[in-house]
Parts: sequence; C-alpha cells; structure tokens
Amino acid sequence: MTEMTAGSATPEALFSAPSARTLRKALEIVGWLVMAMLLWTGLTSIFGRADFLMEASTVEYTDPLETFNAFDGRYVQFSFATWAHLIPGLLIFGLGPLQFSRYIRKNYLNFHRWSGRVWLTCGVISAFSGGFIGIFYPFMGVDGQGFNESMATTFFAVYTLFCMYKAYSSIRAKQFGAHREWMIRSWALMLAIATERVMLGILMGTTGVGVEVLFGTTFWMAGVVNIVASEIWINLTRTPGNGNRHWKDLDAKAAA
Ligand code: HEM
Repeated sequence: MTEMTAGSATPEALFSAPSARTLRKALEIVGWLVMAMLLWTGLTSIFGRADFLMEASTVEYTDPLETFNAFDGRYVQFSFATWAHLIPGLLIFGLGPLQFSRYIRKNYLNFHRWSGRVWLTCGVISAFSGGFIGIFYPFMGVDGQGFNESMATTFFAVYTLFCMYKAYSSIRAKQFGAHREWMIRSWALMLAIATERVMLGILMGTTGVGVEVLFGTTFWMAGVVNIVASEIWINLTRTPGNGNRHWKDLDAKAAA
C-alpha cells in the first residue's frame, strides 16, 4: 500500500513530504554549524601562514629549505605564489557565506553579482597558485611521497575550475537552479582545505602515522568527503521541474 502511494505520488508531493522537509531543515542547521567550524579553521590557517611569512621576511637566509623546515621553507621559497594563494583565500572564505544568504540575494542583488565575480576571480587565482605549489613542489617532493599530494592537487584544482566555469556559464544562461548547484560544489571544494586540516590533526594525533604520509592522503579524503556532502545536499534540495524554484519557497508553501 505504501509502495503504491509512493509510486503514484507526483514529484512535487514527494519533494514536499513532511519527512523530506524536516530533513532539509535539520541538515541546513547542521550545514551552517559545520561551515562555521570550517571557516574558523581555514581563516586561522590563513592568518597563521601569513604571520609566518611576515616573520620569515625579517630573517636572513641563503637556502629557505635549510633555514626553515622542508614544509615551511617552500612557502618562503615561493612567497609570491603563497601570497597569491592566501589573499584570494581570505576573500573566498570571507565572501563565500554571504553568497549563500537569501536575504542578500533578495535585497542586494547587485552586491551578490559583484561579490560573485570577485569570488570566482579569487577562486581561479587560488586554484592556479595552489596548483603551482602543490603540483610541482609538493611537500616530500614530486618524485617521492609528495606525488600523492601532486595528483590530489591536480585533480581538485581542475575540478574546482570546472565547477566554477559551470557556475558562471549557467547563470549567464539564466539557469538559476544549475548555477546554485555548481556554486555549492565550488564552495564545498574550497572548504575542503579546512576539512583537510581537521582530518590531518585528528589522524596525526590518533594514528602515529607521520605528516609525510598523511598530508597527501588527507587531501584526497577531505576532497571526497566534501564532494559527497555537497552532492547529498544538492539532491535533497533540487526542486522538481527545471530546478529554478528555491527549495525554501516550496517548503514554505507546503507548510502553509
Ligand atoms: C582550488 C582551490 C585550492 C587548491 C587547489 C589549493 C591547494 C593548495 C596547496 C596544494 C597548498 C600547498 C600545500 C603544501 O604542499 O604545503 C595549499 C596551501 C594552503 N591553502 Fe590552498 N588551495 C585552494 C584553495 C584554498 C582556499 C579557498 C583557502 C582558504 C582558506 C586556502 C588556504 C590555504 C592555506 C592557508 C595554505 C597554507 C597551508 C599551511 O599553512 O599549512 N586554499 N593550498
């Protein structure tokens, strides 16, 4: 009987079922809480690394890899690429949550558009500067254990660029639902840097496996976890039809 009811239900009715609405509401709260934790983690990484670079600029050295350690020395060696990574990263984390605010989109559409362009530009710069260090000069060397990090960076930088391109091209074509979905994917990939930090800390503290192995491994793990989380959220909130209606509008209508 239940099967018959579910089988004959319209996509609208299935989408607006009370259990689906409750799940969306609960996951939205969890999502914002997790996002706040990841934002804090990412921002402290940015400021920590910027602080290190500024201190390093006051030190005299001939070989940064010798003066500092093998991990940190690369950031001094490629300080231009590092700053070109940290500054856009700051804007990405600062502007990202605002792009997902309905209040801002509804009341300040112009701000949303311009900050979206800045966000995408920063995303491209971040992908290239992170790509430069991670692909060619990974911690532990590209011909050693660093190959893992190099491949992870290649994969995620290319996929992030692709997601951002799709986000941009779909909004130019006025495909609002598709734009929303590609932006969620792009944002989840950006947040993976913070997920990696959390995973790295936990695994280093609990497994006794060294950072040499864990650094590249957690890069993959964080990317995959964030991609899966974003796909689950996208599927749960994709509205019937062309997907251009917002799930919150449909849920509010169903609750009325
Ligand atoms: C497409 C996007 C991105 C890619 C492919 C990427 C990749 C990378 C890579 C490969 C490194 C160097 C890791 C190493 O070998 O030491 C790195 C470092 C870093 N990234 Fe990104 N990144 C991206 C976006 C971001 C964003 C959005 C932030 C904002 C929080 C960020 C923050 C950082 C920080 C703070 C570091 C320095 C890490 C440290 O101090 O240990 N990245 N990134």
